Amino acid sequence: MAPGKFITFEGGEGAGKSTQVKLLADVLSHSGVSVCLTREPGGTPGGEEIRGLLVRGAAARWDAMTEALLHFAARREHLRSLIHPQLAAGTWVISDRFADSTMAYQGYGHQLGREPIEALYALVVGDSHPDLTLILDVPVDVGLQRAAARRDGDTRYEDLGRAFHERLYAGFHEIAQREPQRCKVVDASGSIDEVHARVRTVVTQSLGVAL
Ligand SMILES: Nc1ncnc2c1ncn2[C@@H]1O[C@H](COP(=O)(O)OP(=O)(O)OP(=O)(O)O)[C@@H](O)[C@H]1O
Ligand SMILES: [Mg+2]
Repeated sequence: MAPGKFITFEGGEGAGKSTQVKLLADVLSHSGVSVCLTREPGGTPGGEEIRGLLVRGAAARWDAMTEALLHFAARREHLRSLIHPQLAAGTWVISDRFADSTMAYQGYGHQLGREPIEALYALVVGDSHPDLTLILDVPVDVGLQRAAARRDGDTRYEDLGRAFHERLYAGFHEIAQREPQRCKVVDASGSIDEVHARVRTVVTQSLGVAL
């Protein structure tokens, strides 16, 4: 096992992942932990190029399998050139999304099913898993409102229909139920500070670090 801890944040559009990863990275750094903050898709120059293909353009640009393959291609590069070396060096890696997003979006949202995503995971990632996954849980409408208020142009997923986002929401909950040891659902309603306090509690309880 690598000496660093691997923490991932998951959840639907606008749940607050990008906000909360930064706050957690700050408190971990202040408590003396070496932290690397990264994101998926992306996190490396090549991965960011693939990200551009995935987050921009028409919603129907790719079919679900092509999307899944692009995500796993970017993930392979992310693991090889950033995540594994950082963990091996003792740095904690916090990723804004990881493989559960592929399961939720392509597996459940686009209804590819669990099996192809599990098979790709086994092929590309192997046996390793994040030490802790925080699934930020906010009602679909609240998340979409937050994301719409931000409007950064990366709207390809936000533009998918309501039914898609409902499947996504249910998918994240099923993922959490299947792996309760790794995945913790965090109530992401309320203020940024309230959610951050819940995140700190989960990280402290799950990883034994005093924050
Ligand atoms: N608890 C909160 N209450 C109100 N607004 C919030 C809260 N958390 C984040 N926001 C705001 O909502 C918007 C979306 O938050 P953020 O970008 O962190 O979500 P995200 O989960 O990363 O979204 P995406 O899936 O689109 O990347 C931002 O403008 C952010 O400032
Ligand atoms: Mg984000």
